[in-house]
Amino acid sequence: MHLIGEHIVVSDQALNYLKNYLESKKYSRVFVLVDENTAKHCLPLMDEIKYQKIQIESGEINKNLDTCTQIWDALLHGKADRHSVLINLGGGLIGDIGGFCAATFHRGIDFIQVPSSLLAMVDASVGGKTGIDYRVYKNMIGVFAQPVMVFIQPRLLDTLPERYFMAGYAEMLKHGLIADAEYWQELRVLNKRRIKLQIEKSVEIKRTITDDDPHEKGRRKILNFGHTLGHAIESYCLEQGRDLLHGEAVAAGMFMEAIVSAKTGLTHEDILHIRETLLSLFPKAPIALEEGTEIWNYALGDKKNKSGKVNCTLLTTVGKAVYDIRIQYPEFQEALRIYLSS
Ligand SMILES: NC(=O)c1ccc[n+]([C@@H]2O[C@H](COP(=O)([O-])OP(=O)(O)OC[C@H]3O[C@@H](n4cnc5c(N)ncnc54)[C@H](O)[C@@H]3O)[C@@H](O)[C@H]2O)c1
Repeated sequence: MHLIGEHIVVSDQALNYLKNYLESKKYSRVFVLVDENTAKHCLPLMDEIKYQKIQIESGEINKNLDTCTQIWDALLHGKADRHSVLINLGGGLIGDIGGFCAATFHRGIDFIQVPSSLLAMVDASVGGKTGIDYRVYKNMIGVFAQPVMVFIQPRLLDTLPERYFMAGYAEMLKHGLIADAEYWQELRVLNKRRIKLQIEKSVEIKRTITDDDPHEKGRRKILNFGHTLGHAIESYCLEQGRDLLHGEAVAAGMFMEAIVSAKTGLTHEDILHIRETLLSLFPKAPIALEEGTEIWNYALGDKKNKSGKVNCTLLTTVGKAVYDIRIQYPEFQEALRIYLSS
């Protein structure tokens, strides 16, 4: 077993540790939140645990208040009290919405993250951000709330569709780019045999950053590399009904923000390597140059930005990032043009 900090377990026996943990805590009731895919592929691995199942429908479109109502109703119906626990068994969506529902139910009940997608393992389950989308805006409503434990069982990835695997890989590449040049070099060539070690490395990077700055007042913002423009593209595509995953949008955002990072000192050579790597691993986002103004409007509406300005996290070199750097529309437009013509 690999224990990261005091409450993150990475192990192919993680679900056994979860069982022991629950026995030691003596919760009044145990609820497990799943979607139809994790109900099918992951829940059977928890057959030694006594729980009540809450099932919601998968898909970002369902990360909303109606689904929260469904979860709160199920908790009420199942007689959850303040000594109950909610286990979120799924990808980032399940973790975010389940965490939010637990953090607000009875002013907060314990919750445990059992991430089953790569993105949830290396990113969403660590750091305490929970929430839902509101209207067309991603993660607009939410709270910071820490799970009591995170149990990561890498073998759950065996059933994860490849496209979702790669979406999680985008966040791992980000960890290398903002914090560890050597790790970035390793990740440039995908090697699934090393994924368990790489999950540990990514979790360590994310945890260190978020422990230092849990409420994103400063340094935590470096984790937003690729996310200002990535979120704008994602929100725009969501509104248009276009098919794009969070990690794919982040890959596009990192591509563009790497180009803009020339102004914070990132070398031409590093920019080329980043572009090359991202193009080799991810499909292009389904957007066009003429849609630049609309996408930019989403960047202006991002909750991370203040008073009509767009701030980004940019790289100064591979492995180091700076945050709150203002970028202008022409810089975005040029980066978008290069992205679409590459
Ligand atoms: N809280 C945070 O810090 C944070 C960080 C990054 C992303 N997020 C959020 O995470 C979400 C994206 O997460 P995601 O990529 O995991 O998407 P997801 O939760 O939608 O899961 C992707 C798909 O994979 C399926 N799935 C999950 N695990 C599986 C498994 N083991 N076997 C088979 N199928 C499986 C799911 O049912 C779903 O269809 C977004 O809503 C994003 O905003 C949150």
